[in-house]
Amino acid sequence: MTQRLRIQLGGQAPAAGSAHFEDFEVNLPSGATLLDALEYIRTGVAPDLMYRHSCHHGSCGTCAVRVDGKEVLACLTALDSLAGGIPVIEPLRALKLEKDLAVDPGALFRSLPKNTSHLRESEVEHYIRFEDCIECGSCVSACPVTARSWDASTGKVEGFLGPAALAAVHRESLNSPERAEEMRTVAERPDGVAACEKHFDCSRVCPRMVYPGKHIEMLRREFART
Ligand code: SF4
Ligand code: FES
Repeated sequence: MTQRLRIQLGGQAPAAGSAHFEDFEVNLPSGATLLDALEYIRTGVAPDLMYRHSCHHGSCGTCAVRVDGKEVLACLTALDSLAGGIPVIEPLRALKLEKDLAVDPGALFRSLPKNTSHLRESEVEHYIRFEDCIECGSCVSACPVTARSWDASTGKVEGFLGPAALAAVHRESLNSPERAEEMRTVAERPDGVAACEKHFDCSRVCPRMVYPGKHIEMLRREFART
């Protein structure tokens, strides 16, 4: 199939004036994914196109981007599903943009509780992966509060821990009762549960059905009970 894609290129958000959009045409067999299309472009007309990827099967979380404003994993998005128009491909919001579609996930990793139990080790030393969460950053990007609170000059979200971090805090409090008080202290910070405005976009875009919004609501209910 032949498909055109409109891709954000450059090192800063469009509002800052340096990023721009460019159209690319790809020709790939049926069954190809958006990640295949990005690779087609990079190995062809745009060898400097930057995007992140690793596993190609929805488990590493690196390839999340926005398609027409909605967060998706590029490796799980069928190119066929984008037919009928020119989809706009942008990097995630609320994370520091490196270039083109590649963002720096460091702030997300740093927001997660440290030394949690029951979980798989991630590739970042001392940071441990939270069960089904693949740390893709989709929820952080989709959340209107994090998007609004993100400071492009520092690359940080000020005033809200974010949905992935609060979901991890809740699960850690369940998995490790001995840390429940510690986790509650984190969740009760002004930038914790209280900063969530209940938009639930986090739960709508999460590719692993972590439902961060549900975890935040469970924390809220626990606070109300005690
Ligand atoms: S909670 Fe879901 S959307 Fe958020 S980082 Fe984890 S896997 Fe991605
Ligand atoms: S490349 Fe690993 S989730 Fe897409």
